[in-house]
Amino acid sequence: MTKATEHPREWPMTKATEHLRGRLAAKAAELRRANVTAGDELAVSEQDVFGGFAARVELCGAVVAEIGGAYPTSLIERHGVLKWYSIDPNRASAIFGSGLHEVLAVRAEETPLPDASVDAVFSSNAFQFLDVAATLAQVRRILRPGGLLYAHFGPIWSAVDGHQLEYVRYRGRDLQFWRDTLLPPWAHLAYQREELRALLRTGLPADLADLLVHHVHDSDVINRLFFDDYVTTALASGLEWVQIAASTHLDYEIVPPAFDPKLRRNVTVPGLTATVSRQRGRPTLLGIRDVLMVLRQPSGSPTNSPPNP
Ligand SMILES: C[S@@+](CC[C@H](N)C(=O)[O-])C[C@H]1O[C@@H](n2cnc3c(N)ncnc32)[C@H](O)[C@@H]1O
Repeated sequence: MTKATEHPREWPMTKATEHLRGRLAAKAAELRRANVTAGDELAVSEQDVFGGFAARVELCGAVVAEIGGAYPTSLIERHGVLKWYSIDPNRASAIFGSGLHEVLAVRAEETPLPDASVDAVFSSNAFQFLDVAATLAQVRRILRPGGLLYAHFGPIWSAVDGHQLEYVRYRGRDLQFWRDTLLPPWAHLAYQREELRALLRTGLPADLADLLVHHVHDSDVINRLFFDDYVTTALASGLEWVQIAASTHLDYEIVPPAFDPKLRRNVTVPGLTATVSRQRGRPTLLGIRDVLMVLRQPSGSPTNSPPNP
């Protein structure tokens, strides 16, 4: 599996538009309760995400858990961190920096750290791969009172490229969504499984078309959560909501192969939003592809107290 740390610049998180600001302002009460804002300050790389984290959390002497990835030990050392755990099932367990930095090859959902043992949790571009409810339950368990979760995540199911084509190998090469734009915009939401297969087979080898259909509809790489689902899950986590910022920005061009135009859908965001909202039985916001989520362990509250109703 390709490690995202090899290409952190490819994870776009930039300014949201006034359009998004307006849509967010008009969104359902749940989002207003969550104080969702347009993400003017969203970062553009893992290091930028870390910069935002370091600006909010006193790292000197802190115990930190990182979810999804293994931030470079040399950069951690500069901040006087006491202990940094990197939790990622696709990395090898290891200890760096004379014990300062420990990589735990486990899923975030099964974090083995003790209750109330970390001062902060950091995550860059990983939440779209996780069971978010199970992960937030672990965050709630391991954070000390007042401790912060700072999670910045990338393309999600609500986005035009929410299929997140990554961690898929074809003929000896890892496919990457920003370079291999093999799927038309909104392909994951606008086409049923067999419709998508039929379309893709008109412009791609059949085995590649099948691989893409499997990734979009059946693989366990991505969690297929909509932006609204993250909000709902966070509100129910028992952690206090500090901030969520969201951006629709797309910083690469989607140029799919020349598929049979007769099989291509003319997708509009309002039309697709109406369809998805109807299918889900509730208003669903489409377009958001980058999110900053900051949650806090309630001060003085035991970690095993019940989550929000
Ligand atoms: C796109 S990479 C991000 C890596 C790095 N944080 C960055 O920003 O470049 C996503 C990472 O999440 C990890 N991951 C996937 N599922 C996970 C899980 N259940 N628990 C923890 N990490 C997971 C992957 O192994 C991968 O290293």
